[in-house]
Amino acid sequence: MLWISVVGAGILGTAHALALSKRTDAAVVAICDLRLDAARALAMQVGAQAFSSVDEMLSHHAPDLVVVATPDAQHLQPTLCAIDSGVPNILQEKPLATNLTDARAIHEAVERSGVHLYVNYANRTAPLDIATCHTIREGLIGPIVYGDIRLDDNISVPTALWGARSRDWAGASSPAHFLLSHVVDLVRWYLHPAEITEVYALKQQRVLGYTPDLYDAYLLLDTGARVRIKAEWIRHMDELVEFYLSFSGAEGTLIYNKLPGFGTRSGWRANLSPTVTMEQLLAHQQLLARSGAHLRGVVDRGAPGDPHGPACGDRLPLALEAYDHPIGDPMALTHSVVDAILAGDPHPESWRGPGPLPNHVDGLKQSLTVAAIVLSAEKGQPVTLSDLA
Ligand SMILES: NC(=O)c1ccc[n+]([C@@H]2O[C@H](COP(=O)([O-])OP(=O)(O)OC[C@H]3O[C@@H](n4cnc5c(N)ncnc54)[C@H](O)[C@@H]3O)[C@@H](O)[C@H]2O)c1
Repeated sequence: MLWISVVGAGILGTAHALALSKRTDAAVVAICDLRLDAARALAMQVGAQAFSSVDEMLSHHAPDLVVVATPDAQHLQPTLCAIDSGVPNILQEKPLATNLTDARAIHEAVERSGVHLYVNYANRTAPLDIATCHTIREGLIGPIVYGDIRLDDNISVPTALWGARSRDWAGASSPAHFLLSHVVDLVRWYLHPAEITEVYALKQQRVLGYTPDLYDAYLLLDTGARVRIKAEWIRHMDELVEFYLSFSGAEGTLIYNKLPGFGTRSGWRANLSPTVTMEQLLAHQQLLARSGAHLRGVVDRGAPGDPHGPACGDRLPLALEAYDHPIGDPMALTHSVVDAILAGDPHPESWRGPGPLPNHVDGLKQSLTVAAIVLSAEKGQPVTLSDLA
């Protein structure tokens, strides 16, 4: 049985606690929130004890895992407190921190203590994100030349999502910290082992005033790939979130309309490199089905009379296309962390998705890139990450 404490009884803390309390091999024993009423209400739902300070909570309980789900700018104190108290495992919400000083302090404390710290970059578990990662890493569209990723929030997020606290919450964060943290992690995960070396960014701050409206950044990777990433939280739209991704490889193209809006539909399709054979396509298809990505193989003969014909000489161009668009369980990474701890293998090479579970090193690299984006937008100049490291 794994004993768990949750810090932060807001939107994400509640989601973690409710998901974990349904497990038969884990128990949520304590909930902590500066707002004791919120802690009490959640503790009541999951049969736990409520506290208003992390110190007090950890003086009463010695959990196997602490989940830190405090606002973006308030991750440092609970995470360091848990590390100093000897908690062996921490699952911390993204971003690792909203400034490099905090991010480095967490990274150093993890290295020093040997604690296992995971960061909840939850997109890594979505079936079609796994399919995107697999397609890119396996070279199915050739070396990546360019990417374009847009993750946008409804204006209700920075103005109303956290009630009367919204202005302060969003003012202590930004679309770079709240949204681009996800995107930067995905870029590093999809394009592994490539790393981001330089960013050139701009921002706008004309609508909200207390926080930037948007960031728009070009990332340069050490492979020469360029990825444009953009996040705004001033959209007047029906959906809460829109998320669109595309990658141009030297030999193919992948388009993933993850959370669509404004009349577009969900979609995922990769037009593959002409070097990919039908046998290989079937093998990739079967492998990805195990991660919940149900893809059909497409043989594209081109439009009748198309003067350009199939673009691949005598071989018909192949594609993979999703025929459903499961969002996946938003708490899948949380469950993977618990499974890994219970199995006594805190860093399994294989969980649901490719690569190890995201940890403090991923968190620091994400924070470094976001810090470079913020600095570049302020200076109006490119920023090299090694200058900040
Ligand atoms: N992984 C994801 O997909 C995902 C999605 C959305 C949000 N998030 C992240 O989850 C985190 C929490 O977001 P939220 O929307 O739940 O925020 P929230 O404001 O709803 O909840 C945070 C709670 O933490 C409490 N708190 C603040 N400082 C504290 C402290 N030192 N000790 C104890 N409690 C404290 C606040 O009172 C609040 O109740 C953020 O970092 C956010 O970016 C992650």
